[in-house]
Amino acid sequence: MNVYDARRMADVLAPLGYAEVDTPEAADLIILNTCHIREKAAEKVYSELGRLRVLKNTGSDAGAGPMIGVAGCVAQAEGAEMIRRAPYIDMVFGPQTYHRLPEMVARAHRNAAAGVGPGRGIIDTDFPAEAKFDHLPAAGAQGASAFLTVQEGCDRFCAFCVVPYTRGAEYSRPVAAVLDEARLLIDGGAREITLLGQNVNAYHGAGAAGEVRLAGLIEVLAALPGLERIRYTTSHPRDMTADLIAAHRDIDALMPYLHLPVQSGADTVLAAMNRQHTGDDYLRIIDDLRAARPDLALSSDFIVGHPGETDAEFGATLDLVRTVGYAQAYSFKYSSRPGTPAAGMDEAVDEAVKSERLARLRALLNEQQLAFNGSFVGRTLPVLFDRRGRTATQLAGRSPWMHAVHVDFADTAAANAAFGETREVEILSAHPHSLAGRPAAGVRFGQGETAA
Ligand code: 5AD
Ligand code: SF4
Repeated sequence: MNVYDARRMADVLAPLGYAEVDTPEAADLIILNTCHIREKAAEKVYSELGRLRVLKNTGSDAGAGPMIGVAGCVAQAEGAEMIRRAPYIDMVFGPQTYHRLPEMVARAHRNAAAGVGPGRGIIDTDFPAEAKFDHLPAAGAQGASAFLTVQEGCDRFCAFCVVPYTRGAEYSRPVAAVLDEARLLIDGGAREITLLGQNVNAYHGAGAAGEVRLAGLIEVLAALPGLERIRYTTSHPRDMTADLIAAHRDIDALMPYLHLPVQSGADTVLAAMNRQHTGDDYLRIIDDLRAARPDLALSSDFIVGHPGETDAEFGATLDLVRTVGYAQAYSFKYSSRPGTPAAGMDEAVDEAVKSERLARLRALLNEQQLAFNGSFVGRTLPVLFDRRGRTATQLAGRSPWMHAVHVDFADTAAANAAFGETREVEILSAHPHSLAGRPAAGVRFGQGETAA
């Protein structure tokens, strides 16, 4: 979602004459869009700010250099504290106020012109009553694979998680607004749209005839001409309703890949985490999903070393992973976040124990991922090419199952014709994080090109 938000900030700033540049040295305005989910992510901001500070002090006149803003959840959580630690920051603003960027930039310019000194940066960490999305300009094109935020915030309050505090209460955008943005993205070349939300399957937006759930939204989107693929992320198991599971059976455009975090396989840990479901509940949902869509690939998030987690409880996570069989997954050491219930829990797990558990979990997940990728060698898959490769004849794209797929077209014209489009690819080899293939035999590519 930070990628999406950063694009939207660029959309807001474009009418003011701002355009993207490649280096911080070339910029008049630098915004760090930050993440607060784990301590490591949050700390990165200060080291990055330290590097940017140098730019503030160069140039012929003192105090010249780019304007520096900090956006996102670290800004939301720390607010004025950020300016105390880094007084040269011009603006600090949270994820819910970036539609006000033009005002903030204008105020920062006025401050600079008036010679307002360090430590007086603008702070806007409100949760405004007006909806941010109503005040953003039309979304810019994103290419063949686009993100679209449909839901923000979270009311689940998992014990370890800062999201309900930094992103705020759960909010769903109205169906009409989502459709308008989707049409713009499709006009700009999008063939695939990933619907975003911190708890996206809790979506319940206003529709013409009442509230629409995520399954209903996907159904309307699937009817848009030109849209080939729909994905959504991230979901909570408790919001995996029967209609959404059925959508995986009924809607062809809904891709056979689902990120459904479980965090832990132990019921006791799940209870301490306030996840509001058991390991068996999760496994039953997986069974239902696989009954609906037998080729569904699964992904998850895991936390090891949540306060009080024992060896046996960690073992239950490994058991769950073996039972499900994941196509890929993200795994993290528990990181204490100020203000969350888990931060006040005793029985912190030793760092060394966390590291050891993480290594064991990752070894198992990597094994599953490699086996999953390997099972595709020799198959022919539709790949949506959304990225250029290292050479003019190479492209990279995604399979329906989210594999990154690399293809050399051996011909620049064929590669250009396939860019932004879906093509059949024969998979030749599998790697831990990608597949490699060639244009499928006999399939015609682009302008008269026939693949070997
Ligand atoms: N420590 C470690 N991992 C966390 N996550 C969220 N909060 C924490 C935390 N305090 C992980 C969860 C979540 C993912 C986005 O980040 O696994 O699903
Ligand atoms: Fe955080 Fe996700 Fe739990 Fe919401 S459902 S509190 S975003 S981990």
